[in-house]
Amino acid sequence: MASLNIESKTELRSGHEIPLLGFGVWQTPADEAERCVNEAFKAGYRHIDSAAAYRNEAGCGKAIRVTSTLPRKQIFFTSKVPRASLDYEGAKAQVDKTLAETGLEYIDLMLLHAPYGGSANRKGAWKALVEAVEAGKVRSIGVSNYGVHHLDELEKHIAELEAERGGKGKGGVLSIGQWEIHPWCARNDIAQWCSQRGVAVEAYSPLVRGERWGEPVLKKLAEKYGKSEAQVLIRWSLQKGYIPLPKSVTPERIRANADVFDFELTLEEVNELETDEYKPVCWDPNVSSLED
Ligand SMILES: NC(=O)c1ccc[n+]([C@@H]2O[C@H](COP(=O)([O-])OP(=O)(O)OC[C@H]3O[C@@H](n4cnc5c(N)ncnc54)[C@H](OP(=O)(O)O)[C@@H]3O)[C@@H](O)[C@H]2O)c1
Repeated sequence: MASLNIESKTELRSGHEIPLLGFGVWQTPADEAERCVNEAFKAGYRHIDSAAAYRNEAGCGKAIRVTSTLPRKQIFFTSKVPRASLDYEGAKAQVDKTLAETGLEYIDLMLLHAPYGGSANRKGAWKALVEAVEAGKVRSIGVSNYGVHHLDELEKHIAELEAERGGKGKGGVLSIGQWEIHPWCARNDIAQWCSQRGVAVEAYSPLVRGERWGEPVLKKLAEKYGKSEAQVLIRWSLQKGYIPLPKSVTPERIRANADVFDFELTLEEVNELETDEYKPVCWDPNVSSLED
């Protein structure tokens, strides 16, 4: 594999680039977000993953606009439309709310946080994101926690919107999806669906929320490379071709989680780490029905 570094990016189907290492801020308290995002910038991250539901968009925006001296174009900011707003009007309003909360002129990536609301509302929420891209408010769009059945439905919705709105491209471009992915929840069905279509995959809870420290293979590889188990998990994610989003409020951990570019797992080790278990540690809307 091509060697990676902290500045590595990939081009999305939208034509915009995304930094491969992200920084998550779920459960980062609102009054800590500005500090944590700045710690992350100092450690070299340029990609912040927030959401309306995290209630810390304002602190992220302040770090990006005010505290950091980095040019806006070097930073990639993601937010997500929350469960309660997953319909046309809700998603449309949320884009404007996120812009107002953060004070940013555009959002790099807006995701639908989960596949809830029923088919018509999922289509409506997606259409609102498509319009937000056309209005220059959002650059790339995607979904989170969609199962393969939801992704198939989204493709149908995109085709319908193209027919309804005047042709190719008018249904929007699915650039990226975000799922809980780590060796105990590998989601290879979803990864394959995305890879066949050039859709980028973001991996949330890449550290399994700290629930797997000491697992024998993980421990062995950490010892072999003289790295922490967290660093091995982030490396696993990157080497699977994903965009990991580790979260921490702790300065040393924020820095350590970005210090993953001086070693490389072998392909055998990447495979050895992966299990057949399906043990998500977060919510799991992926398995919800199309009626939910
Ligand atoms: N789309 C979705 O539905 C969804 C769902 C969940 C998460 N996400 C995104 O993905 C991000 C990451 O997921 P996550 O927050 O669930 O979990 P995670 O990144 O797997 O784990 C975070 C936990 O690990 C600890 N930690 C971080 N670095 C560590 C290290 N080097 N050594 C030991 N412990 C360490 C953190 O503690 P401290 O903070 O105390 O240091 C925190 O308790 C979120 O912040 C969010 O942006 C998205």
